[in-house]
Amino acid sequence: MKVLVTGNLGYIGSVLTEKLSRDGYDVIGLDIGYFKDNLVKEPLQIKKQILMDLRDVSENEIEGVDAIIHLASLSNDPLGEFNPNLTDQINNQCTVKLADIAKKVGVKRFVYASTQSIYGISNTSQELDEYDSIKNPVSAYAKTKWISEQKIMNMSSDKFVVSAFRPATVFGPSPRFRCDIVYNNLTSCAFTTGKIELYSDGTPCRPIVHIDDVCEAFISGLLAPKDLVNKVAFNVGIKGGNYTVKQIAMAVQNRVKGSELIFTGKYGKDERTYKVSFNRIYHVLKEFYKPKWNLENGGDQLIKFLKEINLTEETFRGETTNRLKQLKFLSREKYLDKDLKKNV
Ligand SMILES: NC(=O)c1ccc[n+]([C@@H]2O[C@H](COP(=O)([O-])OP(=O)(O)OC[C@H]3O[C@@H](n4cnc5c(N)ncnc54)[C@H](O)[C@@H]3O)[C@@H](O)[C@H]2O)c1
Repeated sequence: MKVLVTGNLGYIGSVLTEKLSRDGYDVIGLDIGYFKDNLVKEPLQIKKQILMDLRDVSENEIEGVDAIIHLASLSNDPLGEFNPNLTDQINNQCTVKLADIAKKVGVKRFVYASTQSIYGISNTSQELDEYDSIKNPVSAYAKTKWISEQKIMNMSSDKFVVSAFRPATVFGPSPRFRCDIVYNNLTSCAFTTGKIELYSDGTPCRPIVHIDDVCEAFISGLLAPKDLVNKVAFNVGIKGGNYTVKQIAMAVQNRVKGSELIFTGKYGKDERTYKVSFNRIYHVLKEFYKPKWNLENGGDQLIKFLKEINLTEETFRGETTNRLKQLKFLSREKYLDKDLKKNV
């Protein structure tokens, strides 16, 4: 099966393409390359890499492709606020355009990387399911992901199977490791500085999920019978995976002996909080989605990984592992213009 992965030179894409290649898929990557050289370890090279802006994509890149896993986006809340119009262009308009072309040229499956950020501020007395729960996206990132998810779901047909996977905040090793997401951030902070810096008061709920389990969920969108996944959205996470930020911090403290918890107050009270139900994916995709990682074994693995890559405080705080800093760097150095297009 020929699979096009957009955003393959990102945090998740780097792991997903390795897994797909190992599983025997014919993988094509398409990415603008904002984080191409932000490596903490060597990635596996894939057979075909298209380095291009999704805004310029045409039938040429998609002809002959059986399935698309669409990851490319201005991903996460701070990055989405960099320029909300561009966030809409890339996350929303480009997603719809890509799905439109894909449908026209006969792509059979379209797997969309959506997000639980679409739940935004919610009542945490109950777990949110995919359909009945209220969506309350707060950031430009979350709003554009939610709008585009709804639009492409409505494009699905018997021949064009569309599914949306909404991962919790991801953690775990990747050649393009990120320190701007909660569990990776707190673990890396403790590992490199001996301190666990919390930007909020630690009370918000932030479900988390391991990168390998997320990749397995996306791949299930290619493998599962179409009746199970067509026009279906799935929360991606693990049973019992609705942790508060404070609980995540405590797990870090247990692993990095002597590390000190510090409330920086940087973001004041963070209103974004949600508890999510993972019943649908566990039930409907039980043959395909068998998550292996949790706060404990994933935390142990993270520490091992940080030792292996010898993460320093400079890398933890710098462009290599922080997306917004990298985009600001590329803009400041004029590698990118004001529309985040490449200056050639
Ligand atoms: N990491 C998480 O915690 C998380 C959680 C939920 C959902 N997701 C979703 O999963 C997907 C992948 O996330 P990630 O963490 O790997 O993000 P990432 O930022 O590491 O990777 C995104 C990739 O998209 C590429 N890209 C951005 N704009 C592009 C454009 N105009 N043309 C071509 N490529 C472009 C970037 O260069 C980058 O390599 C995203 O859609 C994100 O919304 C991520």
